[in-house]
Amino acid sequence: MKRFGIGAFGAAVVIALTSCNGNPAGASQSLFEKYGGAATVRKLVDDAVAGLLADCNIAPYFAGLGKPGNGTAERVKSCLRLQFTAVLGGPASYPGRNDQGDMCVDMTTAHRNLGIPGPVFDRFITDLAAVLKADGVSDADINTIAPVLVGLKGQVVSTNPVTLSSCPR
Ligand code: HEM
Repeated sequence: MKRFGIGAFGAAVVIALTSCNGNPAGASQSLFEKYGGAATVRKLVDDAVAGLLADCNIAPYFAGLGKPGNGTAERVKSCLRLQFTAVLGGPASYPGRNDQGDMCVDMTTAHRNLGIPGPVFDRFITDLAAVLKADGVSDADINTIAPVLVGLKGQVVSTNPVTLSSCPR
């Protein structure tokens, strides 16, 4: 399994992108701009969620979406668009208000009570990296983004993990 180092949320990507872009005016180009802005983020999130839900080790953790007391798939996607925009150095910060006008919650609150085990988190990151690659994000840029996400592990995994799987035995 691919392993990535730990990075500070948000900051690393922005710092990594503010140099050596060949812009004589000195203005920096974020990954958000480089890969096509909001339309690309929308596609990345759609593809990421589809990929994660196709993984029998991950999908069962999303089974509660749409049920009373839980979020909906549309809300999660909209919050992910906000978060991806921020992680890619675009015009957003997370947590904040998403493109549906709802406030997204912090990572600890969002994942409390889901019982997510560490290895499931690691697989989530591996799946996500594969989707980014399939959608044309370069390996170098994935290696910039991934540590930012890996850095959220402590906020996402549970101290009381529950192993769920819908994989064929
Ligand atoms: C770096 C990794 C991750 C990121 C960036 C992330 C991001 C998010 C975001 C932005 C939300 C929406 C928050 C809101 O509604 O305000 C969310 C919700 C959720 N996440 Fe994650 N997540 C990560 C890892 C995981 C993993 C590993 C799982 C399970 C395998 C998971 C399962 C869920 C579920 C089920 C919800 C919906 C909770 C609910 O509203 O009922 N997430 N996540």
